[in-house]
Amino acid sequence: MSRLADHPDWAYLLREVDGIYRRGSAGGSAPIRAHQRQVRERLNRVVQGNPPVAEAAPADQPVVAHLGRALDRAVDGPLAALARAVGRIAPRLDWRLGYRRPPPALARRFAYTEVLGPNGPVIAEPLTLGMVLLAPGTTYPQHHHRDIEESYISLTGAWSENDAAVHAPGSLILNKVGETHRLTVGDHEPCLLAYAWIGPPERLAAPEMRLGRGG
Ligand SMILES: [Fe+2]
Repeated sequence: MSRLADHPDWAYLLREVDGIYRRGSAGGSAPIRAHQRQVRERLNRVVQGNPPVAEAAPADQPVVAHLGRALDRAVDGPLAALARAVGRIAPRLDWRLGYRRPPPALARRFAYTEVLGPNGPVIAEPLTLGMVLLAPGTTYPQHHHRDIEESYISLTGAWSENDAAVHAPGSLILNKVGETHRLTVGDHEPCLLAYAWIGPPERLAAPEMRLGRGG
């Protein structure tokens, strides 16, 4: 099996993610600072081990029709270097719906792709990194992630979580273990978020994506 050193485009993408968790402000929040440190420590450990890379066949979902626009906007934003690294790898991304029976409206408007984690493409046990793409006007229903602490990094789009605030490109949003969240996206532009999950390896390997409070 090939290794990360054989795949510079994946390695540069991970370097950009590392930079965001290293240089990004925690906004004075101790839990966010602790999360940022955990993500970059785990990521560094993985990268230093030159992990195996197992790329799935690229796969599109309907929402991927919005990816070009999302990247066009993101390269004008604060995370332009990450957006360009995503653009380099875009033809090789495996976009998925994740849910066994997604609501039909969501299946046309949402997809996620993994970058690093127990299931690859860059194989790692202690951390999952990926991206979520949401079409304009989407509501991503209430969900939470059992035993997993999650952060979203906003590349482009105006969106809200639990009707609490409007998040702009460059924002980091922390969802502590088990916290239920519901996302809404502004009507005119797509939203591209990077995410990081930290949690027990067995949970990261089978995160049981389910909608609703019981998931
Ligand atoms: Fe989430």
